[in-house]
Amino acid sequence: MKSPPAYCATCGKHLPRPHRTGRRPRYCLRTGACRQKAYRRRVKAKRSAKLQRARLGHLQQESVEWYTPKKYVEAARKVMGEIELDPASSPQANRMVQAKLFYDQTHDGFTKTWRARTVWLNPPYCKSGNTSNQAMWTAKLLAEYKAGNVHEAIVLVTSATGTTWFHRLYPYPMCFVKGRIQFTTPTGKRGGATKGSIFVYLGTQQEKFRQVFGRFGVVK
Ligand SMILES: C[S@@+](CC[C@H](N)C(=O)[O-])C[C@H]1O[C@@H](n2cnc3c(N)ncnc32)[C@H](O)[C@@H]1O
Repeated sequence: MKSPPAYCATCGKHLPRPHRTGRRPRYCLRTGACRQKAYRRRVKAKRSAKLQRARLGHLQQESVEWYTPKKYVEAARKVMGEIELDPASSPQANRMVQAKLFYDQTHDGFTKTWRARTVWLNPPYCKSGNTSNQAMWTAKLLAEYKAGNVHEAIVLVTSATGTTWFHRLYPYPMCFVKGRIQFTTPTGKRGGATKGSIFVYLGTQQEKFRQVFGRFGVVK
């Protein structure tokens, strides 16, 4: 049976004669330029994949470290009096939040029982495996609130208004922030949220929340 015509894997030109060894050649045999070109392409692709991985790793690391601007934390303090617990934080973030007690990644605030009169929560925004952190952390806050462990809380989430986890927050007053919040990173870099942000209030001072947060956007 006649074998199908062979073409160079780089330039696509028809390869006129079979390789002397009997193996089917992959590149033009005459100059070797196509083989070299293919090699250079492979090296370049490998290098850029490595760079991409490094960049992604950095972004993923940074993606949980987005700190809330002062004016919003001050507003939460104005409503609740003080912030007793910030369960998702870091020593650097707490310099500004000034919660009496905070948990960071090493203490894993998610696994703790949150017992506090007032809680400020801006949960990590990325995913843990396949599960949204916002889903996990808001469910935990609601459970602690309903159990009576937390008396009052303000949580900052993205406007994922169609998700199941967000629907659990609808019974509570919320402020739909106008514009994009400019979060800060540990290096001081500022970054605008890519989606809208929403503050949700759990507690009995609903009118106060409405008054204080009303300046950031519509409160429903
Ligand atoms: C979006 S930042 C908010 C930080 C701060 N609460 C604020 O409002 O500026 C989320 C923080 O949660 C921390 N974090 C992530 N996983 C955590 C965990 N399991 N326990 C406690 N903190 C965690 C991150 O390191 C990060 O500092």
